[in-house]
Amino acid sequence: MQLFPAFFQMDGAQIVIFGDGVNAERKARLVAKTPARIALVTRHLPDWAKSVEQIDHVEPEQASHALDTSRFAIIACDEETELQWAYELVRAFGVPVNVVDRKELCDFTVPSILDRGQVVAAFATGGAAPVIAKDVRAKLETLLPERIGILAELAERWRPAVKDAISSETSRRHFWEHVLRGPVAEAVYAGDDQRAEKLMDIALLRFSHEASSNDPGPVHIVGAGPGDPELLTLKAFRLIQQADIVFHDKLVSDEIMDMVRRDAERVPVGKSKGEHLVPQDGIHELMIAAAREGKRVVRLKGGDPFIFGRGGEEVEALREAGIEATVVPGISSALGCAANANLPLTHRDHAQTLTFVTGHARKGGVPDLDWQGLAKPNQTVVVFMGVGTSTVISEKLQEAGLSGDTPVAVIENGTRANETRGFGSLEALPRIIETHGIKGPALLIIGEVAGLPAEAQNKFIAEALA
Ligand SMILES: C[S@@+](CC[C@H](N)C(=O)[O-])C[C@H]1O[C@@H](n2cnc3c(N)ncnc32)[C@H](O)[C@@H]1O
Repeated sequence: MQLFPAFFQMDGAQIVIFGDGVNAERKARLVAKTPARIALVTRHLPDWAKSVEQIDHVEPEQASHALDTSRFAIIACDEETELQWAYELVRAFGVPVNVVDRKELCDFTVPSILDRGQVVAAFATGGAAPVIAKDVRAKLETLLPERIGILAELAERWRPAVKDAISSETSRRHFWEHVLRGPVAEAVYAGDDQRAEKLMDIALLRFSHEASSNDPGPVHIVGAGPGDPELLTLKAFRLIQQADIVFHDKLVSDEIMDMVRRDAERVPVGKSKGEHLVPQDGIHELMIAAAREGKRVVRLKGGDPFIFGRGGEEVEALREAGIEATVVPGISSALGCAANANLPLTHRDHAQTLTFVTGHARKGGVPDLDWQGLAKPNQTVVVFMGVGTSTVISEKLQEAGLSGDTPVAVIENGTRANETRGFGSLEALPRIIETHGIKGPALLIIGEVAGLPAEAQNKFIAEALA
């Protein structure tokens, strides 16, 4: 490590900046985000500086005086002679210095900064490639909750009370882990500061009365989306990275499971095509037991937990056991598959209604659906779990009056590397499935909109050949 990161305390500090051009302005505006005063050494105070309240104008003759009490200095002079004069002066005072764009003269560099109030992170590459530092910062920016700084402020406010109330250092550590990674943090991130304060009160009361840190935390029921890891929400990503144990469905892709913390337990509980690895009641019991052991529990489900995902039953079972459940939505496979295939589920000219149904039926049976309703025009019907019943679905819809020519799309493993798509008509639905060897997981999308991708493709080819 060639660079040693450290943070300057800026409360009550004075920073000297030499120069009045664009570079000086950039650095002054950055420093002005802190409580420090800025001594701007320049012959004439530029216009931009007049609006920065923290700036004090210092004539070059007075620079020594300013440097005497300065925490660090930045030289941003455009003229080389001015730069050299400032550099020698700063050196004489032994004040740490940054000279803009002159790495060889710098005691320190100004990193790329991620600013979330009390939480500040800095990224540097030692001048080798500042763009990389910016990119890393941008990546982290998307991962850090916007209100993490507010959470740090809350922690700072409560710190003395927590110290008074909980004498053991270990218990205090458990307390902070519990609140900052659990319900209090979630309340702050959700923008509910009042609830966060209340939860702090409750947690402190519990911990100070020696209630253990094993109080069941919330179980997060998290949607993992259709498979493409980039379709995971930021919240889902954060929660699975924090989890001690993850109960996951078969539909959750390997790439997403790779994002789970390495030392977390992974428990497969999902089913594949009706074969339950763990029955639903068993899943409830496992989640409740893990939460009662004080573990951070995530229940990870394919697509969205509340769309044919039995998420509702899991929330009820947890609540009955006195455990709070939070639900994080995921991108349903219906949305992921449609987007990937450029197939708009609603369309001003073709579909004003969108209906999600399950094609599930007992072996050899007929799905219990309102066939007349589904056969109505100007709608899109998305059938989940309908591969096995596709023949009867095709027949029933035609019997109910939907034309056998109605376009149909069948999308298997949507958004994954092995995605398969088949297009055709309602009448040909079983053949489409057979021809493409579709076994599932797959969706049937029925309605005029299912013909649009092929139409667009044909138009494109016709135009290219014209
Ligand atoms: C139990 S449901 C869960 C649905 C999930 N909650 C959602 O919102 O996508 C399982 C069915 O979802 C559909 N499905 C899930 N992931 C899929 C994918 N990547 N591609 C196509 N269909 C998928 C299939 O119809 C599968 O049989």
